[in-house]
Parts: sequence; C-alpha cells; structure tokens
Amino acid sequence: MSDKEQKEQYTVRREPYYQPQRNEVELYEAAYRNRLPVMVKGPTGCGKSRFVEYMAWKLGKPLITVACNEDMTASDLVGRYLLEANGTRWLDGPLTTAARIGAVCYLDEIVEARQDTTVVIHPLTDHRRVLPLDKKGELVQAHPDFQLVISYNPGYQTLMKDLKQSTKQRFAAFDFDYPESALEARIVARETGVDEELAARLVKIGGIARGLKGHGLDEGISTRLLVYAATLIRDGIAPSDACRMTLVRPITDDVDIRDTLDHAIDATFA
Ligand SMILES: Nc1ncnc2c1ncn2[C@@H]1O[C@H](COP(=O)(O)OP(=O)(O)OP(=O)(O)O)[C@@H](O)[C@H]1O
Ligand SMILES: [Mg+2]
Repeated sequence: MSDKEQKEQYTVRREPYYQPQRNEVELYEAAYRNRLPVMVKGPTGCGKSRFVEYMAWKLGKPLITVACNEDMTASDLVGRYLLEANGTRWLDGPLTTAARIGAVCYLDEIVEARQDTTVVIHPLTDHRRVLPLDKKGELVQAHPDFQLVISYNPGYQTLMKDLKQSTKQRFAAFDFDYPESALEARIVARETGVDEELAARLVKIGGIARGLKGHGLDEGISTRLLVYAATLIRDGIAPSDACRMTLVRPITDDVDIRDTLDHAIDATFA
C-alpha cells in the first residue's frame, strides 16, 4: 500500500462529537504545532480517546491507535519480517507506519506494555525524531506531521507498573477527569438523544458512585457507563433496570455498595 493509500485508510472522516471541558483543544493545538509528544491522563471512560480522535480530525491528520498490553513486544510496534513462500518480507508495525506517513500515533494504555517495549518510543520523542528498525537495519526519520500521543490511567499503577521517569519526561501532559455535572449531562444527552433532564438524573447517580471511590469502590461510574444507561433508556428499557445493568453491576460485586447504589437509582427515578 502506498503512503497515500495508508493516509486515506487512517483518516478520521466524520467530525467526532467532542465537548471540551476547558481549554484543552487550544493547548493540544499548541503542543502539536511544536510537535511535542502528548500524554493524556485520567480515569476510564472520561473522554481521553474521544479527545485524541477529535484532535486528529481537527488537525486533519491520520490517526493510528494501538491498544497496548503486557504481551506486546517492540516488534508489534515497529515491525517484523514475515516468512513467505519465496523468502521474507518486512512488514511495518503501526508505529513505523505512523512515523512514515505523518500520522498521530495513539498508544492507548501504554503502562500495560513492558518497559523494554516502551523504550522504542524514546528516540521518536526527543529532538531526534527517528525510529531505528534494528532488525531491518534502517533508521526511519519521522515525517514532519508525525506526533506521538499516549494515554495513561494514573489510578491503576502499582510500583511495578509505571512509566519510567525517562519516558514520562518526554511528554506534555493533560489531566482529564469526569466533566462537571452540567457538562456531563450535555454530553450524555448529545451522545444518546435523551433529554437533558433525564441525563442530569443519571449524572447525579454517577456523582454518588464517585463519592464512594476509596470507600469500597475502586473507581466511580464513568461517563461511558452513563452513556450506556441513557442508550438503554432511550431504547425503552425502564430506568431502574437500565441503571442497575449499566451503572451498578459492572463496577462492583460488593453487596452493600450495590444496595446503596440501587437505592439511589430508585430514589432518583421514584
Ligand atoms: N468530552 C466528551 N465529549 C464527548 N463525548 C464524551 C466526552 N467525554 C466522554 N464522552 C463519552 O464517553 C465515552 C467514553 O470516552 P472515551 O472512550 O474517550 O474514554 P477513555 O477516557 O478513552 O476511557 P479508557 O481509559 O477506558 O479508554 C465516549 O464514547 C463518549 O460517549
Ligand atoms: Mg480510551
């Protein structure tokens, strides 16, 4: 596939709906103008991926997303030789493709990757902007449009699983969190088509769960789950069922916490 075809393939075609929380859009644009690598931190389902998708669309750059995991090796990012009937053929990994075509490369949940995998991004994220393909003996100079973005969920890190300072200190960072209630209600309404009044009630339940974080809950209800609840209600499911199914059952097995949240749902929709 030619670079042009690949660019085509990774282009974000429709404007993704993104509701800014503060001035993050302007700040991201400034980071991009200066080709600073960006880190987006925040709890699950708070809009990190949506933001990156929106920014790629706004900047008119292709977006290549990689979901990282602990079994991932450097070759999964960079590329490898494939065995074929008549010899071997080099296949670029997603990071290499992004560097060649000038895409925004989004490494989702980067901390999941092992540290020896993570270090392959180092030469790409400092003044060198190069990617060495050791096995192929090639040094790829990143396209001027290329940018690296990583996401990071600060809550889940243990001492064993964290980014090294030498990795962290290559990025400008955005701190994301669940939006304040009025904004979150607007997002839920806009994403699903329910009215803002109903969305506001769901957001209120979300707020109660977020208050229980650290008191029996590891994580509060995400914006994503509020969107799920609204989607089912929109589809005709009774709010009490929809909320139990999407806001409570996924996040905890603790009987007392389930009770507390179920009561909050019943009170909200009584
Ligand atoms: N600011 C926002 N504008 C529009 N939609 C949003 C916003 N924030 C959250 N959402 C909604 O929440 C959903 C989850 O957001 P997203 O997938 O970006 O979460 P995330 O932070 O990347 O989560 P994870 O860490 O689990 O990958 C989106 O699909 C969208 O419906
Ligand atoms: Mg995401």
